[in-house]
Amino acid sequence: MSYLNYFKKPIDETVKRRTSCRTYEDILLNENDKKELLSFGRIVNNGLWNEKIEYSLLEFSVEELKKKKMSAYGLFKNLRSFIAGIIEKADFHHMSYGYAMEHIVLKATELGLGTCWVAYFDRHAIEGINIKEDQTIPAIILIGYPAEERTVKEKIARFAIRASKRHDWREIFFHGDISNPLSKEAAGPYAEALEFLRLSPSAGNAQPWRIVKDQSKHSYHFFKKVVNQGYEKNKLHDIDIGIAMCHFELGAAKNGLEGKWDLTEPLLPNLPDKTTYMISWTQALH
Ligand SMILES: Cc1cc2nc3c(=O)[nH]c(=O)nc-3n(C[C@H](O)[C@H](O)[C@H](O)COP(=O)(O)O)c2cc1C
Repeated sequence: MSYLNYFKKPIDETVKRRTSCRTYEDILLNENDKKELLSFGRIVNNGLWNEKIEYSLLEFSVEELKKKKMSAYGLFKNLRSFIAGIIEKADFHHMSYGYAMEHIVLKATELGLGTCWVAYFDRHAIEGINIKEDQTIPAIILIGYPAEERTVKEKIARFAIRASKRHDWREIFFHGDISNPLSKEAAGPYAEALEFLRLSPSAGNAQPWRIVKDQSKHSYHFFKKVVNQGYEKNKLHDIDIGIAMCHFELGAAKNGLEGKWDLTEPLLPNLPDKTTYMISWTQALH
C-alpha cells in the first residue's frame, strides 16, 4: 500500500512544486509544521525490507551550523534545521532510505517548506544523535522556509548541474527491452507515475534511473545506470532509485494502481554498459 492517503493536498501539485532549496529564511520551523512532519515520520517508519527508520529534526543557529562546517558548501544560506533519518543497516538500505526520506521531502513540500537532500555533509553536523552499531545516516535533508529569491551562488550551482532539466522519456523509459523507447500512450495509466518519477531529485541531477515496462505483464523493471563513479561508490545512485520508487508509487496510487515491489531479475537482452537491475513493480490485479 502506498502512503498517498496521508497527503492532504493533490500529490501532482506537490511533486511538480518540489525543487531543492538552498536559500532559507533565518527562522526555525513553527510548532505545527514540526508536529505534522514528525507524526508523518512515525508512519513512514519502515524501509522496503522492513528496516526500521526513525527521524531526528536538528535545529541550530546559523552561527552554530557554520562552526559545524555545513557552510563549507558555500551554497546554503540561513540554514537552521535539517532532518537526519536513522536507518537499520541491511543489504539494500540505501534504496529504502531514498524511498522513505523522499516521502518526508514531499510532506514538507506540501507544508510549504523548502528541502534539499545532502549526501556530503560533515559528520560533526550529526553529533549528538545516538546511532547504534547496526544503524546509519546515509544522507540528510535540509529543511526550512524558502527565501523569496535564490542567492546568485545557488543559481549558478543549479545552472552548472542543469538542475531543472530532466532526460526525455525516450532516454529513460523503455518497452520490452532497453533499446525500445516507451511512449506515453503505451504507458497508459502509468504515464503519470513515470512522469512523477522523471521529476525526482537525484544526486548531482544524475538521473540514473532506467525503467523497462515488461512486455507481457503489468510490471515495471527498475535499472540503475552508473553515471558517476563517485556517487556509485557512496551508494548515492541507490538512494536515487529509492526516491524514484517513492514518486512512481505515489503516481501509480493516484491513478488507482496498487502493486508490490520485488526482486524478479528479468532476463532482458541488450543491457547497455554499467546498467544493473535493481527492483520491479508488479501491479496487484483485483
Ligand atoms: C541523494 C542526493 C544527494 C544530494 N546531495 C546534494 C549535496 O550534497 N549538495 C547539494 O547542494 N545538493 C544535493 N542534492 C540535490 C540535487 O543536486 C538536486 O536534487 C538535483 O540537482 C535536481 O534538482 P531539484 O532537486 O531542484 O529538482 C542531492 C540530491 C540527492 C537525491
